[in-house]
Amino acid sequence: MSLFRKKSVEQMIASSAQTAGLKKALGALDLTFLGVGAIIGTGIFVLTGTGAVQAGPALMVSFIIAAIACGFAALSYAEFASTIPVAGSIYTYSYATLGELAAWIIGWDLMLEYGLATSAVSVGWSGYLQSLLSGFGISLPVALSAAPGAVAGQHTLFNLPAFLVMMVITALLSVGIRESARINNIMVAIKVTVVLLVIGVGVFHVTPANWHPFMPHGWNGVFGAAAVMFFAFIGFDAVSSASEEVKNPKRDLPIGIIASLGVCAVLYVAVAAVVTGIVPSEKFAGISHPVSYALQLAGQTWVAGFIDLGAVLGMLTVILVMAYGQTRVIFAMSRDGLLPARLSRLHPKFATPFFTTWLVGIFFGLIGALVPLNVLAELINIGTLAAFSMVSIAVLVLRKTHPDLPRAFRCPGVPVVPVLAVASCLFLMLNLQGVTWAAFGIWLVIGMVIYFGYSRRNSRLAE
Ligand code: ALA
Repeated sequence: MSLFRKKSVEQMIASSAQTAGLKKALGALDLTFLGVGAIIGTGIFVLTGTGAVQAGPALMVSFIIAAIACGFAALSYAEFASTIPVAGSIYTYSYATLGELAAWIIGWDLMLEYGLATSAVSVGWSGYLQSLLSGFGISLPVALSAAPGAVAGQHTLFNLPAFLVMMVITALLSVGIRESARINNIMVAIKVTVVLLVIGVGVFHVTPANWHPFMPHGWNGVFGAAAVMFFAFIGFDAVSSASEEVKNPKRDLPIGIIASLGVCAVLYVAVAAVVTGIVPSEKFAGISHPVSYALQLAGQTWVAGFIDLGAVLGMLTVILVMAYGQTRVIFAMSRDGLLPARLSRLHPKFATPFFTTWLVGIFFGLIGALVPLNVLAELINIGTLAAFSMVSIAVLVLRKTHPDLPRAFRCPGVPVVPVLAVASCLFLMLNLQGVTWAAFGIWLVIGMVIYFGYSRRNSRLAE
């Protein structure tokens, strides 16, 4: 029965009020910026090319499908986030509702999500940086330009820019959220400007004939692309991981999550329409900077250069928010005794989990330097989709077990919306490759070994 032992929801809310020493500095607008900062990144700037090859111009539809799945999950997220505002996002929420084992699995999935996402985005960042540098006639030694096996026919060894950018971000995070959030706000402004530039300039170069055939690979292509492009929306949930550092979580968290998701969905569909309207979709095969590539082909070399620059600056925030989410999940799991206590120790001066931040930064920096992007993206999606399904189940459970708990935000249409969230997440998972499922299985087995070997006995709840 100890596998299902739960934290008391009331106790968690009470203890979050006294808080563990994290600074409370964020408001609704900061959170929306944190969300948009986490969301717009490698997905739209890099994976759009893969998605266009797979779905054709119907990539627009793929984006809508992925956004709808996220929207359902976001509504569940928002209810939890506004009810139980404690560090660690859905890991913590599920601890109070589904019990310890489920919470562990979710926390373990979130490591796939946040951790590998920092690696994946640092790889995307590196691609745009190299495109930008090539505009100035500068190129890196081939061996240091990408992970081994990332580029067919080239002897690549280590993605040096991807590793270095992770070290810079880690340094920022390790000295505190205040400084990091201010930098984030500037970067988000740059990134949204760049996306609007793509749409505003690109729209005059669209040849509607490129939108025919609209669905060259049928619905299979559209669904497959939706499962991959889901990656482009990951990040809105990082907002909820910040809940212990929010001034007024009950009001600000739901606004932050839903606003950031909505803004990005609109921008993505527009970008997909524009780039597939400029370039015949199959031409995106093998292009690591598809968005600026489309503008280059349209003859807008200067605009393409700005896009490279904006993407390079803007993707920094994605790494920042993902790495932030990762350290806070580990912080929460460690505080609960499921991971060693050292991982939740706060720095005496910066009040941040300093040691954990560097540990995670170096580990996932090396993964980004050594593993190709396509491998990372699918793995991230399957871990995230699994976690999202579980949070939607948890919202139903909490309504049954704690019907009277004050909820600043209530998910509409319960039970239909959470059920649709589970169904759409499972549907997208089924559209990922077999090899991704196998890798996910191995990851879960490793997680089980750690849980039964260490966490179960050291859990605070075991005392
Ligand atoms: N949604 C984030 C991105 O597209 C992870 O980079």
